[in-house]
Amino acid sequence: MGSVKRIATAKDVHNAFTLFKENMTIIQRYDELIYADKDRDKWMKNYKKRSEATRKAYADNADMGLFLAPFFENPSSLTDEIADSICAELIDLGPGPYDDPFMVVKLLQLLITYFRGKNNLSRLILLYVRLGYEAAATFKMGYKPYGKLAYDSYIKIVAYAKEYATFTDFYVRRAIFVAYSNLICVMPSYNFLSVDDAFAYYDKVKDLYASDAVQRLDGNNPEIKTIMEFIRENILIHESLVPGATEMTKAKFCKLAREVYKEQCEKCGNELSINCLPLLANYRALYIEGRCAYTDAVEYLLAYFKIRSSEKISKKAKLPYAHDEDYTFNTQFPQALIFDWLKDKRVDETLRKTETRNLINHVNKYYARVARKDYSPFMNHELTDWCFKHLSLLETFEEKENTIFNVILHRQIQTFFHSHMVAALSRMIVDSVIENRPELLLPMYNLKSTDELYKKADDIRLYIRRCALYHDIGKTRMPNIINTQYRKLTNEEFDIIRQHPGMGADAVDEDFDDYHAVILGHHKFHDGVTGYPERFSTKGLRTKFAIDVITVCDSLDAATDYFGRNYANKKSFADVLKELQSDSYDHYNPEIVALISTDKKLYEKIDKLLSGGREEEYYRLVKENL
Ligand SMILES: [Fe+2]
Ligand SMILES: [Fe+2]
Repeated sequence: MGSVKRIATAKDVHNAFTLFKENMTIIQRYDELIYADKDRDKWMKNYKKRSEATRKAYADNADMGLFLAPFFENPSSLTDEIADSICAELIDLGPGPYDDPFMVVKLLQLLITYFRGKNNLSRLILLYVRLGYEAAATFKMGYKPYGKLAYDSYIKIVAYAKEYATFTDFYVRRAIFVAYSNLICVMPSYNFLSVDDAFAYYDKVKDLYASDAVQRLDGNNPEIKTIMEFIRENILIHESLVPGATEMTKAKFCKLAREVYKEQCEKCGNELSINCLPLLANYRALYIEGRCAYTDAVEYLLAYFKIRSSEKISKKAKLPYAHDEDYTFNTQFPQALIFDWLKDKRVDETLRKTETRNLINHVNKYYARVARKDYSPFMNHELTDWCFKHLSLLETFEEKENTIFNVILHRQIQTFFHSHMVAALSRMIVDSVIENRPELLLPMYNLKSTDELYKKADDIRLYIRRCALYHDIGKTRMPNIINTQYRKLTNEEFDIIRQHPGMGADAVDEDFDDYHAVILGHHKFHDGVTGYPERFSTKGLRTKFAIDVITVCDSLDAATDYFGRNYANKKSFADVLKELQSDSYDHYNPEIVALISTDKKLYEKIDKLLSGGREEEYYRLVKENL
């Protein structure tokens, strides 16, 4: 940690950001290696180095935070030179390997406050268009308040469309079209714009494009032309996903869908090579107009997507918007586009089940096939979202469970290890409870005698194991920074962390009802009231004891983890146990804490796992699962 100092030169800003990127590159290299190289010694070395690199990044980034802090306290203390250099650094921190939307939002807000005082409209428009993009990214990752920030940024920019001709910088003029594009193509799926309004904005941007001012300045510009084509095609996704369009908008949708479909078919010479979205929209339009049965459209599209997603076609196809990650996702997983259609009762149940299984298999193969560096945090997020969204379409509990584990393993290996550590710890505790204090488990199963309980011992062990393995599934739905922690988290990111129990509980269907309270309540303390989520109490729940076991094991693993996540202040098991004892009256179940302290066999087993045993346990998991 450096001392608090004010950085006066642009060079210092540049050096700090360069270090940020260097550290990220190193972490990512080890991330790649721990999934790729399973040789025991190499794996251990790489995992340790990854952890060290994370801690180094955390310290270096804390230094950067310190010298930026005075500017955040008083934005007018910035200078043009430093503000310009931060702007220049932000270009690299866009979508891609150094993507860090929450940090970028903070920096953009600082720069906007500064440049607002400077009356520099062009600069503000460029900053707002970026703010819209980054804020939308954080919204997608679970921070809902920033959705409005994104929407407001785009609305602010499109208000300047009238002054198009006054902007001498092409990038400012382009930003106006980008703002329209994101407003129209993204905001309806985030529920900030109705489909009707999206089509109304589409009319506006078409008028703008056709205006003399735009035609004179940028009529021949290929970038603006591509944005217009992008909007025209991508507006087609909303009709089937966002409910509530009026008949008039539906008619507009059908007309446009037919136009784009026809055009692309003519261009490509056949239906197979056209983009997924116009094809989907065309069949949707046929269905809306009553010219094709719902189930026929579904079956036809599924057959088409099967061919379309086969590697041969994907490689051959020319993708006009290959830079767009939504687009890449739609091309890699075209079936995903109509999965909401499959939930319709008109679709044959066998077909629904087969297709769901097919696509989940496809996702699993994709995880195995694609190198980690080739799929972005966005893609990773999209896949996780998709798997959870359609979990209920899977048939058996085992399929659902395997899908969950696969997502955790590939999304966040740290959460995978942590969940298994909690499973191992809770198994030790439950074994000791059954042996020494079996009466503690009776209420959970409404049992009267311990004899009945012994008969159920295996069920109890399996139940607690599953509680442990599922407790943090909500973490897979949040940005990776939360588990990697290569820098201090922002308040917004802490808000997101507090949502993970709720997100986890929402992610699973009624087959997981027995685990619902444990997922939702694992950060509630023994008193049932303190902890989070605030509006949920574990008091008097039948599964209260299971929740208490998971809460204790969760703390034991997290606080002693010297190997995986970035806990710079990791503690020894003995110290953590002392803390649990002092807190145990209201935070931790005192009977569980007492058992750990008095059952010598249990104490030693836990101690062994939490010190040297941890590394072997991680490696065993890698060998068996990766
Ligand atoms: Fe948790
Ligand atoms: Fe946890």
